[in-house]
Amino acid sequence: MGMADQASALQREFVEQLLLASDTDAVESLRVEYLGKKGKVTALMADLRLVPPEEKKEAGTVVNNLKNTIQDRLKEKAEELSASGYDRLVEESMPYEPSMLISGELGSFHPVTLVQRMCEEIFRSMGFTIEDYPEIVDDFHCFQALNIPEFHPARDMQDTYYLNNGQVLKTHTSAAQNSIMRKYGSPLRAVFPSRCFRNEAIDASHENTFFQMEGMMIDKDISISNLIYFMKTMLSEVFGRDVVVRLRPGFFPFVEPGFELDIHCLICGGTGCPSCKHSGWVELCPCGMIHPKVLEYGGIDPEENSGFAFGLGLTRLAMMKFGIRDIRVFNSCNLKALSQFVSI
Ligand code: PHE
Repeated sequence: MGMADQASALQREFVEQLLLASDTDAVESLRVEYLGKKGKVTALMADLRLVPPEEKKEAGTVVNNLKNTIQDRLKEKAEELSASGYDRLVEESMPYEPSMLISGELGSFHPVTLVQRMCEEIFRSMGFTIEDYPEIVDDFHCFQALNIPEFHPARDMQDTYYLNNGQVLKTHTSAAQNSIMRKYGSPLRAVFPSRCFRNEAIDASHENTFFQMEGMMIDKDISISNLIYFMKTMLSEVFGRDVVVRLRPGFFPFVEPGFELDIHCLICGGTGCPSCKHSGWVELCPCGMIHPKVLEYGGIDPEENSGFAFGLGLTRLAMMKFGIRDIRVFNSCNLKALSQFVSI
């Protein structure tokens, strides 16, 4: 390759690299690469001595032009970068100083997020996995797989929001039971928190959008005493003290037997207030032993296995934990009220 060709190849290569240079450091290393002592243009200049005398003048001009062009372009680029303030910006934001005080207000977690994380930690420490599941589900998962066939009166217990395509907004976290049984089989320990929706009239203790955390434990020989043990452990960890609880029969088609686990209202201490519908008790965690049919739908043999399920009301739990009297606060977007709960 003649001198002229080598020079134009080098120039093309340089221009491409210059386009990619995004700070003055990159520009400086290009200068070294091309014009430095061991640079590519410097090497080309040294090669001039090998050129036959009659071509020397022309070749010298070509290489000199290349050197000047590269010098000019490097200078322009360096000016462009510092004029854009890019370097200054990088310099000012570095080095990162983690202990620097931040002005302005700190953000906070939503109270439901706080209790959800706390419950996740408690169950994780007892060997449960934490699962995620969509908020839009089909009729099969929300009802049929839970032993609630079409036209079953139990469907009236939950005022469902139906979508035009026949799907529903999840009315309860139990809608994920079937998929999670199919995912893991037996044995399994899982909790799955989610937002749920019901077309309910809203008052101090009812919301149409609320949070639950479902839990399931399936294995050989799981009994009601396992259920009671896990519920008690969870509640004493959450509240950090003993709370008065009562277990009464509850009806849900997907458990047999089924229970309602209530706690003494922590807002009024059990004397009755609007938050507990003046009963002194709050329904916190419906639960029960998983119905054999539900296990079967989930691909688990009910002859060999048994399990419990519960549907912990996370929103109610947050009310009790933080003494929030009115459930409407949660979806109010009222930062003044909601940002008080920085940690548990
Ligand atoms: N899914 C039921 C509800 O929200 C609660 C529940 C869950 C009951 C698990 C029993 C077992 O109404």
